[in-house]
This record gives sequence, C-alpha cells and structure tokens, in this order.
Amino acid sequence: MHILVFGKDGQLGKAFQKLFFEITERSRDIEIRYVGRADCDLADSSALANLLNHAQPDLIINAAAYTAVDRAESEPELAKAINTIAPKLMAQYAADHGATLLYFSTDYVFDGSKSGSYIEDDLRNPLGQYGKSKAEGEQAIEKVFEGASKGQYAILRTSWVYGDGSNFIKTILRLAKEREALGVIQDQWGVPTAADWLAAVSLDLILDSQWQVRKFTSGIYHAVPPGETNWYELARLTISAALEAGSSLKIDLANIKPIQTVEYPTPAQRPMNSRMSSKKLEEAIAMDADVSKLQRWNMSWADQVRSYVQELVKE
Ligand SMILES: NC(=O)c1ccc[n+]([C@@H]2O[C@H](COP(=O)([O-])OP(=O)(O)OC[C@H]3O[C@@H](n4cnc5c(N)ncnc54)[C@H](OP(=O)(O)O)[C@@H]3O)[C@@H](O)[C@H]2O)c1
Repeated sequence: MHILVFGKDGQLGKAFQKLFFEITERSRDIEIRYVGRADCDLADSSALANLLNHAQPDLIINAAAYTAVDRAESEPELAKAINTIAPKLMAQYAADHGATLLYFSTDYVFDGSKSGSYIEDDLRNPLGQYGKSKAEGEQAIEKVFEGASKGQYAILRTSWVYGDGSNFIKTILRLAKEREALGVIQDQWGVPTAADWLAAVSLDLILDSQWQVRKFTSGIYHAVPPGETNWYELARLTISAALEAGSSLKIDLANIKPIQTVEYPTPAQRPMNSRMSSKKLEEAIAMDADVSKLQRWNMSWADQVRSYVQELVKE
C-alpha cells in the first residue's frame, strides 16, 4: 500500500510519522512518503497534480494546511489555494483512482452561536477567512465525491490541536516562566486535542487490523476527545500540571486572571462555542470493536493535557 502524508513538518504530520514508525515495524507492505513544503508547495496546483500522478497513492493523508488564522484575513487567496483548491485536487485524484482521502478540518467552520455541542450536520457559517477556506475545502471534497463511483474520503473536524510544534499550551508555559501575571480568555469554549490522539483515531477509522485501508462510510466526522473547557481553564490546568511535574515558574495559579474576548481583539473573529460531539466517529470505530481502539475514548482532554505537559517538563 502506498501512502502519501502531506504536512510532514506540522504538529499532526509529525504525529503520523511517529505512529507509522511503529506500524511499519510490524507491517512490511506499507510504503509511506512524507511531503513537506519544500517537496511540494500546495499552493502550486500543477506541482501537486504531478506529485499525485507520479506517486500513485492508495491513501492520501492531508495533514498540511494554512493555519495562520489571523494572517488569513489579509491572505484569503493563499488560504484558499492551500485549504480549498489543493484538497479538491487530492479528492479528484482519489475519486479517479479509487484511493482514500483523509482531510482535516476545523471547529472554525462554525460561527459558535449554538448552545450545545456541534454535530456533523450543523450548518457551516465561518466567521473568518481561515474557517471559510476550510469550509470550502470540505464542500469541494463532498462535491467531487458526489458523482464518484470509486474512492472514499473522511473529513475529520478537530479543534485546539497541540503536539510537536507551536501551540497554546507551549505559549502558556513560556509566558509562565517570563511573567508574574497573565490574563486568559474565559468565554471561548472548545476541546483541546492532542495531535497524537488525533492521528491514532484517524487510523482507527480508515485502517483495518492488518493496517490496510478498510471500507468506511465517507463523510464528515468530528474528532475531539471527551469533555470541554475554555482557554482560561486550559491555562490553569497547564500551569498546575507543570508545577506538579516540578517545573519552576514565575507565575502562580492565583495570578492567572480570566478575561473576556472583547478585551483581547484579534484580526479574525473566533467562535465563542467550539464544542463538538465526536459520537459519530466513536460509533464508527466501535463497530470494529477492538479494545485498544475503544480505550482511546476513555481518556478525557484533561488527562491528555496533563500527560503532554509532564512530557514537556521532562524535556
Ligand atoms: N492547530 C490547531 O489548533 C487546529 C485546530 C483545528 C483544526 N486544525 C487542522 O488540523 C490540521 C493539522 O494542523 P496542525 O496543528 O498540525 O498544523 P501546523 O502545525 O500549522 O502544520 C501545518 C503544516 O502545513 C504545511 N503547509 C502550510 N502551507 C503549505 C504549503 N503551501 N505547501 C505545503 N505545506 C504547507 C506547513 O508547512 P511549514 O512547516 O513549512 O510551515 C506545516 O508543516 C490542519 O488541517 C488544521 O487546519 C488545527
């Protein structure tokens, strides 16, 4: 089986590399090619088409994206090229060749006005250019596969990703070493998602026990771990886990203050509610009834953040 993984230098791309390193130790008939920006600029459609035709992948994992949420407000065309047009080309390849496409999307396709958790069929209404480019990427993939007789796709919507790269948790730990007080937004709600967990549940959906692509129902799946929180509570948990792990910080918990979104203006507006229900994905994986797969759903976002912070402190 030939696999192409785009975004090799991103948080999720690195998580896939770790996971496939373990898998390829056990399964010899998997050939994986990791693609970074230097190998193929996703804004260059003809370079992407050439790569796909040359590599002939059975499975395309697109972990690359234009993720600069605020910068996208002034670079909408570039965001569109990477987040909408490139995935559309990947979908066209998959539909033409009977391949499988895994695309990652975001909570930012929603406007955040819902009071409970978002489900897959809720209306998209992005507030900014990044969310718009991802929402249009989703729609482009759906459209390509509407009339297709071959191939399959999964769009995994996730939120607040952290892993090997820049992220909110690392920023909080850095600031906690530099400052005695910190204000953190309390009125935006969502679910922090570990890149390692996200890579693992993605493969749970699309691969069988022999690490071959399996037949699954094409469509959108929400992919966040159990629970919900806000940025302020996430910052507090990060600091308390770091202190427990022996990190020496300038700040103490009492000096992390909750602030409101209006006090921290940004070029792109964020949804106030990014909660998503992953029930559909959990059920799709449960049909396969493998205990190790099901165990991933017992770890709450908070358990996962604690162990991530412990690892960071050890480093
Ligand atoms: N991070 C989050 O909080 C979050 C939340 C919701 C959804 N998501 C989605 O989850 C997925 C993974 O996110 P992540 O956190 O792993 O993102 P990330 O760490 O920002 O990685 C994105 C990768 O895409 C690559 N890339 C950007 N433009 C490119 C181009 N023109 N050509 C080729 N490669 C390009 C980047 O390359 P360079 O390394 O060279 O810059 C980077 O390695 C994305 O689809 C994202 O939209 C993320």
